[in-house]
Amino acid sequence: MKEFKRYLVTSALPYANGPVHIGHLAGVYVPADIYTRYLRMCGRDVFFVGGSDEHGVPITIQARKQGCSPQDIVDKYHKLIKESFAEFGISFDVYSRTTSGTHYKTASEFFRKLYEDGKFIEKESEQYYDEEAGQFLADRYIVGTCPKCGAEGAYGDQCEKCGSTLSPDELLNPHSALSGKPPVKRRTKHWYLPLNEYEPWLRQWILEGHKEWKTNVYGQCKSWIDGGLQPRAVSRDLDWGIPVPVEGAEGKVLYVWFDAPIGYISNTIEARPDDWEKYWKDPDTKMVHFIGKDNIVFHCIVFPSMLKAHGDFILPENVPANEFLNLEGDKLSTSRNWAIWLHEYLRDFPGKQDVLRYVLCANAPETKDNDFTWKDFQTRNNSELVAIYGNFVNRAVVLTHKYFDGKVPADLKHEQIDDETLAQVPVLKAAITDALEHYRFREALKEAMNLARLGNKYLTDTEPWKVAKTDMDRTASILNVSLRLCADLAIAFAPFIPFSSDRLLTILNLPKDILKWDNIGRGDLLPEGHQIGKAELLFEKIEDEAIDRQMARLEAIREANRKAAAAAAPVEPQKAECTFDEFGKMDIRTATVLEAERVPKTDKLLKLTIDTGIDRRVIVSGIAEYYTPEQMVGKQICILANLAPRKIRGIESKGMILMARQPDGKMRIVTPEETLCNGATIG
Ligand code: 2FM
Ligand code: ZN
Repeated sequence: MKEFKRYLVTSALPYANGPVHIGHLAGVYVPADIYTRYLRMCGRDVFFVGGSDEHGVPITIQARKQGCSPQDIVDKYHKLIKESFAEFGISFDVYSRTTSGTHYKTASEFFRKLYEDGKFIEKESEQYYDEEAGQFLADRYIVGTCPKCGAEGAYGDQCEKCGSTLSPDELLNPHSALSGKPPVKRRTKHWYLPLNEYEPWLRQWILEGHKEWKTNVYGQCKSWIDGGLQPRAVSRDLDWGIPVPVEGAEGKVLYVWFDAPIGYISNTIEARPDDWEKYWKDPDTKMVHFIGKDNIVFHCIVFPSMLKAHGDFILPENVPANEFLNLEGDKLSTSRNWAIWLHEYLRDFPGKQDVLRYVLCANAPETKDNDFTWKDFQTRNNSELVAIYGNFVNRAVVLTHKYFDGKVPADLKHEQIDDETLAQVPVLKAAITDALEHYRFREALKEAMNLARLGNKYLTDTEPWKVAKTDMDRTASILNVSLRLCADLAIAFAPFIPFSSDRLLTILNLPKDILKWDNIGRGDLLPEGHQIGKAELLFEKIEDEAIDRQMARLEAIREANRKAAAAAAPVEPQKAECTFDEFGKMDIRTATVLEAERVPKTDKLLKLTIDTGIDRRVIVSGIAEYYTPEQMVGKQICILANLAPRKIRGIESKGMILMARQPDGKMRIVTPEETLCNGATIG
C-alpha cells in the first residue's frame, strides 16, 4: 500500500439554510473528526477542511420564506453551525464559507481556466421560466410529480421521497415554486461539463482502480457510469451565487455544485495561504472526502472530473460515504422538523458532547440506514459508557486513593493474569488501528470498548478489595496494571470521545501530550509514586426524565405534522345524491356511554353499553385504535339508532356510532357541543 506524506480530510459543506442535525453528524462530521484526530495522534500531517455551503436555491427559498435576504440567512446559520460544531469538538483546521472573498476568487479562476482550456460546451436550450415572477426556474424552484415514484412535490433536481436525481424536464405536472403556476419555456445559454468525455477515464480510475471503496459508494459509481454520463450544466440563471466570470454571462451564476466543492480548496487557501498547494497538488497527499450518500455522485464523478479537467490537482483516494440515519423510525427531515438539532442537544445536555459522539459512532449508518432512538441513547450511556468504561476507571482510581493515597503503586508482585491481560492491549490496539485506517469506525469503537471490558474483567477476576486484606504487594501490582490500562483507555478513546479523554487525563494527572497513538500499551506513562488526581465520575447516568422530555418533544412534533398533513390533504369527494326521504329514515340521536370494554382477541373493537334515552343497548364499534375504554366511559356520542342489528364477534350490536374520518385516516367521535339529554334526535 502506498505511504502518503500527508492527509487532506474534507467534510461535506453543509448548506447554511438551517442548523445541523444528528443525521449530518453521524453521516459526515463524527467519522471525519474521528479519522482526523486519529491521524493527528499518529503524528501525521493532516489538514481538516470544513465550511458552509452558502449558495444554491435552498438558501434563496429559505430567505423568501423568512422574508429576508439570502445573505441574512447564511450569516445567521453559518454562525450557528460553526459555533455548534466547535462546541461539539469537531476539530476543523478551517471552517470558512463559500461567500468569502477567497472562495469567489478561487472558484472564478477555476471556472475561467476550464473555460479558456475549452473544457466546457456552450449550449442554448429551452428551460422553464415563471412569467409572473420573471425568473428562470432552476433546481428547487420547479416542483412537480416524481416520474420515478409518483410522489408530489419532487424538485427539479431531486425527489426527496425516493432520492432520485432528476432534471426539471423529467418532472410530471411541473409548476413554479414561486407562483404555483405552470411554467413556460424560454431559451437560455449555459456552460456544460461534458461528463460523457470523462467516462472511460472514470471507469478506469474508479471501477478498475478503486475496488477497495465501500460497496455502497462503488456500487453507486458503477451504476452512474454504466448508465451513461451526460454533459452537466455548471451555470444557472439566478441572482444568488458567484457570477459566471466570462463575457456575455450577465444574470448567470455558477451552479452551486460547481462552486461548493471548490470551497474545499478555497478554505485551505484561506487558512494556509503559504503552503496550501502541498495539500492539493502533491501526489503524496491522501485526500479523503467524508460525505453522506446523497453526495456520492458529486464527489466521485463530478468534482473529480472537474479536477481532472483542471489538471493541477490531486484526486480523492477514498470517499467513505455513509448511508442515512433515521430518527425513531422516521426519515430525518428539516422541513418537518423531524430531527435532533445539534445546538438544541448542546443546550439540553450540557457537557455531554461525548455521549452523543459515542452513540452516533456506535450506531453509525456505515453500511445501511440506521435508526437513532432516545432509548438506545440512554442505554448506551448507562450500560456502556457508565457501566463499563466509567466503572472501571472509577474503581481503579478510588482503590488507588484508598490503599496508596493516590500514588501509583509499584508492580511488586506480578502474576500471570497481569501478563495475559496486558498482552491483550497490543492485540486490541491493532484491531482499533486497522478499523480506523479502513473507515470502519463502529468496529474501532467497539474494540476500544473491549479494552475497557478487559479492565473491568481484570478487576473482577483479581478482586484487589479482597486481596488488600492480606497482601498489599499483590494489591499494588493489580492497581499498577489497572492504572496502566486507564492511561491506555484515555488514548484509545481520544479520537472518539475527546472530552472524556481530557477528563481522564486530569483524573490521572497526566499532560495532554501523552495522547499519542504510539503510547497505547507503553506501560511507563504512570511511574511508581506518580500522584494521581481526585476520583471523579467520567460519565453520569442519564435518568428517564431527561429521555421522557425528549420523547414528549418528538411526540408533539409528530402530532403537529399529522395535523398539518391532515389540513393539507384533499378531503373526500361528495357522495352520490340522496333524497330527503332517504335521509329522514335515519334515526340519529344522542346517547351516553355507560360501560366500555375491549372485545377479546381483537385490536380494533370496543363493546360499548350505552344509554340512548329510549333504552340501554350494546354497540360494537371499531374505535379501539383511537380511544381506550376508559376514555369512552361517560362520553356523550351520536348514534344511528335504527341500523339493523348485526352480530360482531358473537355480540349483537344495535346501531352505529357517528365518527369523523380525517384525511390522514384518523377517526374522532362526533360529540354535541354541550351535554344534551340522551335520546335527543338529530336531523
Ligand atoms: O448536500 C449538502 O448539504 C451540500 N451542501 C454538500 C456540499 S459538499 C461540497 F461539495 F461542498
Ligand atoms: Zn421519487
